[in-house]
Amino acid sequence: MDIDAIYTQIKSQIETAASPAELEELKVRFLGRKGMIADLTGTIPSLPAAERAAFGQRVNLLKNNTGRMLEEKMAALSVSGSAEERQAVDITMPGVAQRIGHIHPITQVVEEICSVFTRMGFCVVEGPEIETEFNNFTGLNIPLNHPSRDAFDTFYLNSKLQTPNSKLLLRSHTSPVQVRVMKSRKPPLAVVVPGRVYRPDAVDASHSFMFHQVEGFVVDRDIKFSDLKGVLEVFAKAVFGKEIKMRFRPHFFPFTEPSAEVDISCIICKGRGCSVCGRKGWLEILGSGMIHPNVFKHVGYGAKIYTGFAFGMGVDRIAMLKYGIDDIRLFYENDLRFLHQF
Ligand code: PHE
Repeated sequence: MDIDAIYTQIKSQIETAASPAELEELKVRFLGRKGMIADLTGTIPSLPAAERAAFGQRVNLLKNNTGRMLEEKMAALSVSGSAEERQAVDITMPGVAQRIGHIHPITQVVEEICSVFTRMGFCVVEGPEIETEFNNFTGLNIPLNHPSRDAFDTFYLNSKLQTPNSKLLLRSHTSPVQVRVMKSRKPPLAVVVPGRVYRPDAVDASHSFMFHQVEGFVVDRDIKFSDLKGVLEVFAKAVFGKEIKMRFRPHFFPFTEPSAEVDISCIICKGRGCSVCGRKGWLEILGSGMIHPNVFKHVGYGAKIYTGFAFGMGVDRIAMLKYGIDDIRLFYENDLRFLHQF
C-alpha cells in the first residue's frame, strides 16, 4: 500500500474539516482501534521479513504526523470566527477601565480646610505625632494637675529616649505645633497645622483613639478677637455654605484667654432642630481664643509685644457632618464600598 498517497489523503481531509465534531470523526477513522493506521499496522506480519522494519517505521511516522495535524487543526478551530475576523481590531470597542484609587475622604476634607486658609495667606506646617510633655502641655500653660495630663487621657510612651523632664507621649492635640513654630520663628505668623492626634478613648460611633485636627494661629502686633471672628467666618462659609450662621460661646482653654467654642447653625436642619444637632439647631465645630500671655512667655516672646489668636477643629467630625456619616469607624475600616462614595 502507498503510504505517501495515504498521507496526502489524511492531510487534505484534516485541512478541510470545518468543525471540532468533524475532526473527532476523522480522528477515529485514522487513529482508532479499527482505523486506517491500525489496518496498515495489521499488514506488517504478512510482509516479507526484510521489508517489515522499514515499513513499520514509516507507519509510525504517519501515525505521529496524523496526531500532530489533528491537534493543530483542533486548536485553530477552537478560536471562533474566521481568520479575517480574528485578526481585525475593533477600534470602537470600549477599553477596559482601570480601577484607580482616590484620596481618602478625611484627607480631602483636610485639604479643603487648609486651602481655605492658605488663600487667606496662612502657611501649612506639620509637626511630629510623638511629642514632649513640654510642647503638649507645659508650654501651652496646661498646669501639672490638669485632668488632660492624666494617663487616662493621654498615651504616654515607655521610651528609653525620655528623661523625667522630657517625657514623651502621643500628642493629644495639634496645639504643640504652636509652641514649635513660635520657638523657631518670629511673628508675623499665620499658620495652619493638619495632623493626627491620639487619646485613649473607648472606640464607638463618635470616638476613636486616633483622629484628625486642623490647628490654626496668627501672631503679630495688634491681632484682635475681631480678626479671629472674621477669619473663622470666611472659613465656615467656604466649607459649609454662605447661608451658615455662627455663634461664639464663652469657654475655657488654658492656652487661650478669652476662649470660645464656635458653633455653626445645623447644616442638616438649618437651625430648626434635628437628631444630628440634638434639637439644638447648632453644631459645635471648634475651640478658639486669644493666645494666653503665658504661652508667649514659654516660647520666649517679649512681654506685651505680640497678641494672637488660635483655634483647633476636629476634622473627622467635620467630615461626618459634611457627608452625613454617622459612624467615625467607617473612615478607618478601609471598606471600599464606603470609600468609593467620596
Ligand atoms: N487644642 C484644643 C483641643 O484639642 C483646641 C483648641 C486649639 C482650642 C486652639 C483653642 C485654641 O480641644
